[in-house]
Amino acid sequence: MTYLVTGVRGIVGRAVVDQLRAAGKPVRAASAQPDLATAPAGVELVGLDPADPRSVAAALDGVDKVFYYAAREGVDTFIDAAKSAGVAHIVLLSSIATEGDHNPIGAMHLAVEDPLRESGLPLTILRPGAFAANARAWFSSIKAERVVRQPFPDVQLTPIHEADLAAAAITALDDPARAGKIYPLTGPESLSHRQQVDAIAVALGEPIELIELSYEEAVESYYRPVLDLWAEAGTAPSPVGPTAESVTGTPARTFAQWAIDHVDDYR
Ligand SMILES: NC(=O)c1ccc[n+]([C@@H]2O[C@H](COP(=O)([O-])OP(=O)(O)OC[C@H]3O[C@@H](n4cnc5c(N)ncnc54)[C@H](OP(=O)(O)O)[C@@H]3O)[C@@H](O)[C@H]2O)c1
Repeated sequence: MTYLVTGVRGIVGRAVVDQLRAAGKPVRAASAQPDLATAPAGVELVGLDPADPRSVAAALDGVDKVFYYAAREGVDTFIDAAKSAGVAHIVLLSSIATEGDHNPIGAMHLAVEDPLRESGLPLTILRPGAFAANARAWFSSIKAERVVRQPFPDVQLTPIHEADLAAAAITALDDPARAGKIYPLTGPESLSHRQQVDAIAVALGEPIELIELSYEEAVESYYRPVLDLWAEAGTAPSPVGPTAESVTGTPARTFAQWAIDHVDDYR
């Protein structure tokens, strides 16, 4: 029973690989850029070029279960290869943006959800909101200057820990009854960017200055549809739940926990 995890350079893909490995399950890690990827000792690392049917078929050879990133390129090739390989279950990492009014982020993920759903392959879809790991964008400025430059510092999000997404993905992959299900997921609390920075400062044991960027200043380094969503959101609390507990049965990790887990990246 081999698991294939695509996108091992991604924060969630890597967490899925680590948790499968820790549970002693056979896992093959795939990356579009295997030369730049790393995998834990004992994990087979393969290249997966989504545009090359032979590469996709080789990555899926002997695989029963797949954790799949929502990469539009090559989804039809992936579906054909998964059918040929007799894959028993796929978990797709999608986005909660698919549930809102039409927006480019939702559309990008639906372009992968829709063909996978229509394929008839056993499929569970995870639709998370904002990742706690988006705070990785602050690593270098906190490390260098103890400063965060952030637009919309008071917009509220429900950051979700990658370890909870990985645990939800594995729970789903290990339970055939989860096929056909769609799980919207948030983190366990509504927090502003400012409160997230405060949580990192607590984990670090040092103050961090937050400098507010204007929309115009931020547009150089942020994806514009994300800035537009934040502009619309105002400062109201973001709805909390369902969390990963709805899949795993275990309480979801807080952002404070995420900050502790990643504190060495800020030192
Ligand atoms: N960030 C959020 O708040 C959020 C919320 C909801 C949904 N999502 C969705 O979740 C997925 C992952 O999002 P993400 O933004 O957090 O991306 P990520 O985990 O950093 O990486 C996603 C993929 O991009 C590839 N990649 C390309 N260059 C990379 C690099 N320098 N370092 C690491 N990976 C690199 C990797 O695949 P290879 O190993 O194959 O190269 C990786 O699996 C996306 O589909 C996103 O839309 C994100």
